[in-house]
Amino acid sequence: MAVLNNKTTLVTGGGSGIGRATALAFAHEGARVAVADMDPRGGEETCGLIKAAGGEALYIKVDVSKSTEVAAMVARVVEAYGRLDCAFNNAGIMPKGFVPTADLDEETWDRMININLKGVWLSMKYEIPQMVKQGGGVIVNTSSVAGLIGSRTGPAYIASKHGVVGLTRGAALEYAKDNIRVNAVCPFWTSTALTEPYMQQNPQLGEQMAGRTPLGRQGTPEEVATAVVWLCSDGASFINGHALPVDGGVVIA
Ligand SMILES: NC(=O)c1ccc[n+]([C@@H]2O[C@H](COP(=O)([O-])OP(=O)(O)OC[C@H]3O[C@@H](n4cnc5c(N)ncnc54)[C@H](O)[C@@H]3O)[C@@H](O)[C@H]2O)c1
Repeated sequence: MAVLNNKTTLVTGGGSGIGRATALAFAHEGARVAVADMDPRGGEETCGLIKAAGGEALYIKVDVSKSTEVAAMVARVVEAYGRLDCAFNNAGIMPKGFVPTADLDEETWDRMININLKGVWLSMKYEIPQMVKQGGGVIVNTSSVAGLIGSRTGPAYIASKHGVVGLTRGAALEYAKDNIRVNAVCPFWTSTALTEPYMQQNPQLGEQMAGRTPLGRQGTPEEVATAVVWLCSDGASFINGHALPVDGGVVIA
């Protein structure tokens, strides 16, 4: 049986990679899907894929770092579908190159924190009141293995992803009484548009990253999507405030 039958879901960054795979998985499990992304081409394409498979989807243009746009995004979902059962706050960026702490410029820091961390906070800020009003809901935020352990992925990226885990745990405690569960997924290196530029710079990188995982391979966007679907489902009804690595065992190695 489809585990999200008749649920209303929202995916930020749904126009590509992990977000697109999750939007498709939500639809496959019977959910209506609002696909939010700043890139209309990617967002509309994801909606087209969902509709072609017989699902229901709606594209919403949003920059998750802008308060008014995030408020409008949640309002649009509620206007279209009447409620918001599951939100996957996933939109994010990675730096073009990994600059060490002392060399990072302020503009890069601000941009990364505004999208990766403030964007998740703003999304929850507007999703939670709707979920409280309707009697509950589920939120999953995208952190990273870089949100759990030290890494040389750049100071702003690692700080933003550690911040997402903190936000997740805080909100999980605050809103458990309102029947809202809040969890995070923490993927390791996954082949998407985000990682593509690095692979082009260093064709051996995929193999090197695969070699870091005990399972000896990279993960796929679909494997992250499977974890998100489960966290959103009733099967995970007692899972709250958890930061789930989807990493082939990297963080415990
Ligand atoms: N791919 C990986 O290896 C990996 C590993 C760990 C964590 N993550 C995280 O997973 C999430 C998704 O990454 P992905 O690999 O699927 O990347 P991706 O580039 O394929 O997709 C990201 C999507 O987010 C959208 N986006 C970017 N900035 C936005 C903004 N300000 N407002 C709205 N939409 C915006 C982009 O247009 C794009 O469609 C990110 O938060 C990323 O940090 C990725």
